[in-house]
Formats: sequence, structure tokens, C-alpha cells
Amino acid sequence: MSITINYNNMMAHKIGDKGFTWEQIVATKKQAIQALKTVQANRGLGMQGWMQLPHADKAEISKIKKTAKQIAKSCDYFVVLGIGGSALGPTAVFTAIKHLYFNQLPKKVRKAPQFYVIDNVDPERMNALFDIIDIKKTIFNVVTKSGATSETMAQYLIVLDMLKKELGDGYKDHIVCTTSQNRGNLIKIAKEEGFETFYIPDGVGGRFSELCPVGLLPAAVEGIDISAMLKGAAHMDRICKKADLKSNPALITAVLQYLSMKQGKNISVMMPYADSLKYIADWYAQLWAESLGKNKDKEGREIDPVGQTPVKALGVTDQHSQVQLYANGPFDKVVTFLEVGSFRGDTDIPQGCPDVPDVNFLCGNTLSTLLTNELFATRYALTKAKMANYTIKMDVVDEYHLGQLLYLFEMQTAYAGELLGIDTYNQPGVEEGKNATYALFGKKGYEAKAEELNNAPQDNQEYII
Ligand code: PA5
Repeated sequence: MSITINYNNMMAHKIGDKGFTWEQIVATKKQAIQALKTVQANRGLGMQGWMQLPHADKAEISKIKKTAKQIAKSCDYFVVLGIGGSALGPTAVFTAIKHLYFNQLPKKVRKAPQFYVIDNVDPERMNALFDIIDIKKTIFNVVTKSGATSETMAQYLIVLDMLKKELGDGYKDHIVCTTSQNRGNLIKIAKEEGFETFYIPDGVGGRFSELCPVGLLPAAVEGIDISAMLKGAAHMDRICKKADLKSNPALITAVLQYLSMKQGKNISVMMPYADSLKYIADWYAQLWAESLGKNKDKEGREIDPVGQTPVKALGVTDQHSQVQLYANGPFDKVVTFLEVGSFRGDTDIPQGCPDVPDVNFLCGNTLSTLLTNELFATRYALTKAKMANYTIKMDVVDEYHLGQLLYLFEMQTAYAGELLGIDTYNQPGVEEGKNATYALFGKKGYEAKAEELNNAPQDNQEYII
């Protein structure tokens, strides 16, 4: 029971010179195996702590499960405050596994608190949240590795103030922190306040953090089987260690994307054909973009900028918006379809409209057949138009397969970063924006950045209309 990858539609026998021959792929074998060896040799070191997460200590997982159970029992609403890697994973996993209208279900059917992830500082959204939750019945999970991210810390301050006003000293039971054990402000605050706290290992960056307490705690609170997720990830880890292009799914997809980038295919479209996987595309977008979008090599030397722009799409919905471009637009993209073998439920299309054959042909089928046939048809149209695409198929969307999928993408990203010769784990572009924000607010230590901002070229009024 594993995930399968069908990359026929990346190959020359399907899409001619827009694809690759096996010989072209094999020509990168030496480089690919070297990338694999480097990634595997650094397992657990530096920022590659994420590779150890599927094999987490049992005591750590038990602590997460125990706390999650208590949280689930003691609140009606569980709200994650975080951004980027601290938010996208929890959202993706929750949407993949839980009922698609989970929060609207009656409490006795849900059997877990309503779940919200607030990953922006749009005041309207924040205020709207307080319109629908009762903060006396809410537990907030403040998630930030650096413990310094302005958005998350602003949310924390707002929530803290409200809780104190509503609950006096009782506020402490309504905040759980997930942060670095060794650095940042949140750990200091959490210790002083005595908040329940989970740690993000030093070698795990935000976008690689779904399988640590960042993702595991919210998942466990919502009743998701985190042990099965980790088991799936561990299974994928074993497969992705193989120094063999034919049987290592992360390595072959990294090579295919790498070769595609060299051909000028600088867009990576992720198109799940399942609403449950819609936010996997969001999670992947961050992983792929923030890891690979670099203009310096591992040694910090300038290089021609690399990376693929991730685009999120959803089948079949986006067949009616984006697919025209994917089929007949420039040959600058690789489309990854996510296919589900069997849906967790189905809907019959009943008999009707007997006198309207143009509608009646649907009758007697199911919605899953319609969706799957549309995937087949779209894939055919793209392939006929010589547009590079491949399909990742999971038998079913459950915790075990989801763990596999997440880990597969993480390994693919690690191998692709190594092939590109860049540092997969830094994000200087993001830090630049974070630092400029601190400077704008006059934060201590950012005086030089404020000076730099003041001296930057100013807007010319002529160009504002
Ligand atoms: O992948 C990353 O490192 C980032 O996207 C971070 O997750 C994001 O910037 C939030 O950072 P932090 O967890 O420090 O608040």
C-alpha cells in the first residue's frame, strides 16, 4: 500500500521533444545519486532534523497524544495562531482527513473541537473569528519557531489581552505554545507564564515541520491518527533512501523537475483531484517556493536565480478556469496531478431527464466516476498538447497515505535543492521582509535597516496615477 507515480507523460514517447528519453534521465544519474548521498549523509544534521521526525521518540508522541486528549475534552474551539510553515501543514492535514464541513457538524458528531487556523493579520478576519468562537471555551495554540514573527506575536498579544479580561488568572489554561526550546521570545514568555509548551527541534524549519508538534498536536486534538501518519512517512523514508532512479519516487520526481527547469519549465502546477487534498497544494507551494527560490549557491556565491513558481489548482474546478492555459499556453510548466484511487464516500447520479440525452448520459454513474474520468480526459488533453505532467496516486486519503505524501514532497524538495546546488533550508528573501517590518516599527536592533529603508529609492509621483 504505497503511493504510485506515473511519469509517462513526462517522457518523449508521449510528449516528443517537450519530454525526456530515459537516456537523458540516466545522464543525470551520477549527479542524482550524489545528491541523494549528500542528503542522506546529513540526515539529522544542521537543518535536516526533519528527516528524523517519522522515527520520533515514542515518549514524545505519547505526550502529544495525552495533551491533545485533554485539550479536546476541555474546549469547544481549537485555534492555531501561526503563519507559513506553522499554519499550512496543520490546515492541509486537517482538511485532508476530517469531514469537509467539520466545523459545521453538530458537536456530538464532531467529537473534537472546531478547528481554525489564523494565518494572517487581516483585522477583519481576526474580528470575525471572535464573532464565532467563545474564547472562554477556546484553546489557542501559538506556533512560532523563532518566537519573533510579528504576525503571530501580534495575534498572541491580542488573544492574551482578551483572555485576561475574560478569565483573569484562568487565561493560562487557554494557551499552548509550540516553539524553539532554545531561542526566541516565545519560549521565555511561555516559561514565565507557565504555559504548556511543545518544542520544535532546532534542525526543523517551518516548512518541514508538519511531522513535529507543529502539525502533530493540532492533528491529534482533532482526532487524527498521528501514529499512522508517522508510520506512512517512515515507510516513504525507507523507499526514498534507495540509490535507484527507477524505484525512488522522490529522486525521480526531483530529477524530472530539475531537468524540466533546465528546459525553462519554471512553473510547477499542483492539481489535486480531491477537495480533501486542496490545501496540500498550498502546503507544497510554500515548501517548493521557499526552499528552491534562490539566487545564491550553498557557499553563498551568486548564481543565476533558480526555482519554480508553484501554482495551486483544483480538479475539476480549475478545469473551467486554468486548464486552457495549461493545455495551450507556453511550455513553461510541469503539472502534477494528485489522484485518489477510492473516495471515502460516493454519490450516485440518479436517473432523470430521459428526454434530454445530453444530460441523461450522466445517469447511473457516480460523482467519483465523473471526477476520475475528467482527470483522465484533462490529462489526455494536456499530453496531446505535449504539456509535461505526471500523476501521484494515493489509494485512499487516510493518515498513512497522507504521511507518505508529505514525506515524499519533503524528500523531493531536498533532492531538488541538492541538484540545484542551493541551500534548501534558508529563506533570506523572507527574512529581508521580516527585518524591514521590524525596522518600520522601530524595533530595537533594526536601526541600520531603518536607515537603509530611508535611503532606498523613493516612489516617483509621476508613476502614480
Ligand atoms: O518555512 C519557514 O521557515 C517559514 O515559512 C516560517 O514557517 C514562517 O516564516 C514562520 O516562522 P516562525 O515559525 O518562526 O514564526
